Amino acid sequence: MLEEVNTAGEAVNKLAELFEDITSTPRLDARILVAFVLNETTMKVFSYPEIPLDDVKLKNLKSFVKRRLNHEPVSKIIGKKGFWTLDFEVTSDTLDPRPDSETLIEAVLDKITDKSANLRLLDLGTGTGCLLLSLLSELPNAKGVGIDISLKTVEVARKNAVNLGFSNRCEIKQCDWKDFNTDKPFDILISNPPYIPKTDILNLEREVSEFDPMLALDGGNDGLDAYRSIASFARDVVFAKGFLALEIGIGQTLDVTKIFTAAGFTTYKVQKDIANIDRCILFDL
Ligand SMILES: C[S@@+](CC[C@H](N)C(=O)[O-])C[C@H]1O[C@@H](n2cnc3c(N)ncnc32)[C@H](O)[C@@H]1O
Repeated sequence: MLEEVNTAGEAVNKLAELFEDITSTPRLDARILVAFVLNETTMKVFSYPEIPLDDVKLKNLKSFVKRRLNHEPVSKIIGKKGFWTLDFEVTSDTLDPRPDSETLIEAVLDKITDKSANLRLLDLGTGTGCLLLSLLSELPNAKGVGIDISLKTVEVARKNAVNLGFSNRCEIKQCDWKDFNTDKPFDILISNPPYIPKTDILNLEREVSEFDPMLALDGGNDGLDAYRSIASFARDVVFAKGFLALEIGIGQTLDVTKIFTAAGFTTYKVQKDIANIDRCILFDL
């Protein structure tokens, strides 16, 4: 597979060819994997294609290439994914943070008039912690609680909170969100809940259906189970002047709006992502 390959540049060229059929970003994927085995930045690999690859590095690279050809995402192979301005550890137990979800961060920051306020944030289904920790990075006096039902996911989020320097401003708890109680309401509730209709999951690209955890994808028969569940208790955990920011799947705007309007919320804004698809709804109480 990597015969006659001796340098980083040769490896990138060869892997880009191999990855052409499985990804729209073959050269980028190739460069990230080569940089990873070399413990260098992708920029260094780009600028110095003559960096040599010894036998040990080539052997490691081959095993990563096999995994990528089996549709494992690059992020899961290198254990890291960039989101907003931060790098998050990811594992097989966490959903890979998606660029689409940055729409929620932008929408929330847009709505907050005083970024230095002592806000309290609640993140339901925190995963890697990417939403909560990215918001904490922009709101210097905010504090937050992130909740996830999966203990292994919670362990990753806690690690990210420590590594990124936010552990003093957040608490990551393992529990089902419907069992979460608090005597101190929150200013902002954020969530990117599982919203894929059960029968659609197998039709997703293999990178998602085989490598993202089912708990993070499965939204029940119509994809809306999590929204109904959150709507049933959201009023009890958010201040009267607080708001909700929820990521939604394609075509769910009307259904999610109905669920939260029936629970007493009013729509503040529907925010589109860069592909012009409704991606996040903000509700006022
Ligand atoms: C779509 S992922 C979002 C992860 C992360 N917030 C992000 O945006 O990348 C949904 C998360 O919700 C968690 N989850 C699913 N059902 C839950 C429940 N009933 N209570 C708490 N967390 C739940 C899953 O384990 C998963 O980590």
